[in-house]
Amino acid sequence: TTPTQKLMVNGKDFSLDADPNMPVLWALRDILGLTGTKFGCGAGLCGACTIHVDGSPMRGCLTSLKQVQGKQVTTIEGLEAEKLKQAWLEHNVPQCGYCQAGQLMSAAALLTTTPKPTETQIVDAMSGNICRCGTYPRIKAAIQSASE
Ligand code: FES
Repeated sequence: TTPTQKLMVNGKDFSLDADPNMPVLWALRDILGLTGTKFGCGAGLCGACTIHVDGSPMRGCLTSLKQVQGKQVTTIEGLEAEKLKQAWLEHNVPQCGYCQAGQLMSAAALLTTTPKPTETQIVDAMSGNICRCGTYPRIKAAIQSASE
C-alpha cells in the first residue's frame, strides 16, 4: 500500500495516497488540480514552480511531500498579497504569463521579509525566476510600487 501523505495547502488539509518522495509540484497539479503553479524545467533552475512553505519561497519541483509534512503550503491560488497583485495588473507585467505565478510567489515572499527592498535586494530575490519574455523591468517596477 502507498503511504498516506498529509498536505496542507492554502489553509485546507488533504490526505493523499502518494509516494512521500513525490515532488509537491506533481501533487498540486496532478492530484489536487491546482494548476496555477507551473512546471518549467523540473530541475530547480527556472522558478516557475515557486510555492511558499511556511511562508518561505521553495521550488515545488524539488520539494517532496515528505519535506512538507506538517507545514503550510501556499500556492498562487491562495496568495493574499492584494497590493502586489494590483501592482502587477497596473504595470501590465505578464507577456506570455507562464512564469508569472512563480514570479509573484517570489516577489510576495520578498515583501514579507523585506517590505521596502532596495533595487539590489529585488534583483537578488528575483534572480532565481527566469522569464523568457524578458518582463524583468516591469516585474521590478511592480515590486517597487507595491512596496511604497
Ligand atoms: Fe521547478 Fe523550474 S520547474 S525550478
